[in-house]
Amino acid sequence: MKQTFSAYNIIQKKRDKEKLTKDEITWFIEGLTKGEIADYQMSALLMAIYLNGLDKNETVALTDAMLYSGKVLNFPEQYFIDKHSTGGVGDKASFILAPIAAACGVKVPMIAGRGLGHTGGTVDKIESIKGFKTDISLDDFVHLVKERGLVLIGQTGEIAPADKKIYALRDVTATIESIPLITASIMSKKLAEGASGIVMDIKTGNGAFMAKLSDAKKLAESIRQTGLRFHKNMMTVITDMSEPTGNAVGNSLEIIESIETLKGRGPSDLTELSLTLAGGMIYLAGLAKTHKNGIEQAQLALTSGAALDKFRELIESQGGDVNVIDDYSLLPKTKSTFNVLATKNGYITQIDCKSLGMHCVRLGGGRLKTSDKIDFAVGFILNKKCGDKIKKGDTLATIHCHDHQLDLARELGLEMSSKDIVIKAVKNKTKKKLIIEVQTKFAPKLKSKKRK
Ligand code: URA
Repeated sequence: MKQTFSAYNIIQKKRDKEKLTKDEITWFIEGLTKGEIADYQMSALLMAIYLNGLDKNETVALTDAMLYSGKVLNFPEQYFIDKHSTGGVGDKASFILAPIAAACGVKVPMIAGRGLGHTGGTVDKIESIKGFKTDISLDDFVHLVKERGLVLIGQTGEIAPADKKIYALRDVTATIESIPLITASIMSKKLAEGASGIVMDIKTGNGAFMAKLSDAKKLAESIRQTGLRFHKNMMTVITDMSEPTGNAVGNSLEIIESIETLKGRGPSDLTELSLTLAGGMIYLAGLAKTHKNGIEQAQLALTSGAALDKFRELIESQGGDVNVIDDYSLLPKTKSTFNVLATKNGYITQIDCKSLGMHCVRLGGGRLKTSDKIDFAVGFILNKKCGDKIKKGDTLATIHCHDHQLDLARELGLEMSSKDIVIKAVKNKTKKKLIIEVQTKFAPKLKSKKRK
């Protein structure tokens, strides 16, 4: 590495609350990617950034350096749009909104993540379908999105490799919850996929990384601004994650709920979330005049069955067993179930969403380390949600577990009924809002481009 800067001086500058230049940031990240900057130096810089922040220009410079640490794809046409979520519990909206958007003419190049901590991962969930390949090459990825309009793969080492290293260090140095670091991490990967616009679902509430709404708003602003600086059309949607999305939590259970939603029989919150985000993709793509019109098109694609057909095509084009759509017994399934019963009458006023996510992990449905193996069959169905009226003895949730896990299920069930699902005599005065804020910004360069 050409020694134009010193890692020590850069760390010292950020420690002392000074601004870093684009060249300093680029030099540091290039050094990390080549193995010439040590993990302990990167960790020190991460902690300095965590404590003292980065301004807009520094955040863009970090995103740029992480983006160009690997391959960068480019689909310049306006109708290539991706969606990303900051992660939550029971969030399976991608399986519904991506086929809806594709059925409406959007091309969706989706590189999704695996679950970590209490949150589930899109890639783990889709792998519940026998044969579905998520590790296809970037060449096949490009071919499939152009030919079929929809492709879904996992992170590859070729895309933003600096993020892989940095994320692993953040995970063990208590530096995850930083707005500039989250922005650069998410945006470096999303920008590398080459879509011309991105719909970002930013979760807030006790099951989200940004639990406080004020932080979610700051993250949304940071992500929008960074996307615009890279000439991307951006929509940020802040959505509630203070209870799981839909009712199913666990990999194959969530695939079943997604297919049910594509058949028009899904839970209302999951359906509303999927239509809002798909409508945003259609709007950003330039295929609808307004977001509202995008949502109307999305609704039509759902009710006509066109979105379900697109999902079938996605499974088929990536080697999966399409028969799962009509026969859920082809998905991994546990032999046993355990019902969690309400111990009193009243209304559900609060749910500890993060804790419920961790119960799924304890059953084996999620991972705490990236090397952990996933059990696709386990999880639970949450039968009751916030605001619901409850009678003593009602089934609050049904845990899907293996025979040898019945003691664990009993233990988790007790936690759910005594602590996680709060039942009070009086209903909350204010109803929870699922879609909290939508903001759209078109990058000037792309605004007038029309699909040929
Ligand atoms: N998801 C990411 O990809 N990166 C973060 O930093 C947080 C969520």
